[in-house]
Amino acid sequence: MSQAPGPVPAADFVVFGGTGDLAARKLLPALYLRDRDGQLPPETRIIALSRAGLDDGGYRDKIRGELSRFVRTGELDDAVVDRFVARLSHVSIDIEHEEGWSILVEKLDDDERVRVFYLAIGPDLFGRVSERLADHGLVTPSSRLVLEKPIGHDLASALEINDAVGAVFEEHQIFRIDHYLGKESVQNLLVTRFANTFLEPLWNANCIDHVQITASESIGVGSRGGYYDQSGALRDMIQNHLLQLLCLVAMEPPTYVGKENVRDEKLKVLQALRPIVGEEVDRSVVAGQYSPGLVDGEPVPSYQTETERPGSTTETFVAIKAEVQNWRWAGVPFYLRTGKRMERRISEIVIQFKAVPHPMFPGSEGTSEPNRLVIQLQPDEGMRLHMTAKEPGPGGIRLRPVSLDLSYAHAFQRQSPDAYERLLMDVVRGNPTLFMRRDEVEAAWTWVEPILDRWSRPDHRPRPYPSGTNGPSAATTLLERDSRSWPE
Ligand code: BG6
Repeated sequence: MSQAPGPVPAADFVVFGGTGDLAARKLLPALYLRDRDGQLPPETRIIALSRAGLDDGGYRDKIRGELSRFVRTGELDDAVVDRFVARLSHVSIDIEHEEGWSILVEKLDDDERVRVFYLAIGPDLFGRVSERLADHGLVTPSSRLVLEKPIGHDLASALEINDAVGAVFEEHQIFRIDHYLGKESVQNLLVTRFANTFLEPLWNANCIDHVQITASESIGVGSRGGYYDQSGALRDMIQNHLLQLLCLVAMEPPTYVGKENVRDEKLKVLQALRPIVGEEVDRSVVAGQYSPGLVDGEPVPSYQTETERPGSTTETFVAIKAEVQNWRWAGVPFYLRTGKRMERRISEIVIQFKAVPHPMFPGSEGTSEPNRLVIQLQPDEGMRLHMTAKEPGPGGIRLRPVSLDLSYAHAFQRQSPDAYERLLMDVVRGNPTLFMRRDEVEAAWTWVEPILDRWSRPDHRPRPYPSGTNGPSAATTLLERDSRSWPE
């Protein structure tokens, strides 16, 4: 029998950007669902801040509407919605003007209660908002600061942000969200590796040929063109989500899973990544940008048309051959790939084992495929182990690929919660394991930066790929050069 999660301490959630997209789509639905499951004590309050000029009633009405859009119908309960919206209030604030701040100061009257300052706003404001919180005496020992990615757009800006927020909050109070770490399937990766014995002896360069990590999306950039065109897939997905997945695949077993141990081990992986610098970038990294095509049978425009940015050189696709330079992984490439407007939405990790050393079944040469463990993160969480079996029947031994399939939906008979549900409760509990520590973020930027530098040259152009495909052909060539291929 599974246990219902216990309540967390009462908290004041103070959401900067309270009328924004992230609050509507993710944060408030996640808090609603935690309320529905009894995890929020009655005193928990959510104070939304924005420049929208709404009163409490107007904000509550707005969020009622948003919940019906972003929470699945079967999960909406009128009584819980009423209880939840009663926790909400709205303060109109311009961070440089005093008016809104005095209202906030008045509202935050319990210094003992956990305070969660959630900055669902641009990273250029992280430092200034922290400073203003301190100016108004709002930062208590039980306060936490939650920062959304991206933390900066390069190493220098990340250092600047980390210094600015670090001048106000202790590192243990800062929770840098990478929502991939809150996905059930990503946490399960740790459990699969370390709560089972059979994988760990094989999990190294002796048995593994290479690793592939793919996060492909069929959606385009949509209304996020303003942000995305400044960012691109390398900053938006690789610097954080894909490198975090790589860390979880490659890290050494921590002594136990708690507080700093997991983050210590992930940091070592980031620091062991072989730098890709100068001309090496042209060989080991592929940038692409979607052109018109068909997605799910529907015609879609190019990135440049969709974002109204003709001539943009922002990449919507990246493939990289990375290497972790340590004893366990010497010589094992980690191929990373992410893109928008790809053929389908899928995130998966493929662990490709080495081929058998000697074909011993007569006539079987070339018919035995190496084992492959596929860990599917989304849309359907599960795991498949590709093996070789004997085809039933007389007349010799014929080898056939078969797979052992584990579907989590089937095994556990329920849907996984959204990543934000878990992460927000961890913030209140003060558990930092699933958040990025300052040194991790900086190590990730350190690795990514030479690639950004190479791409900042005036002649750099991402390779076009038709929407609805698996990216530019150069990404296929990247693996073919190593006599390997992406599993399609
Ligand atoms: C976000 C990126 O961090 O992750 C988006 O900014 C991307 O561009 C999203 O679409 C993907 O998240 P998920 O959970 O849908 O895989």
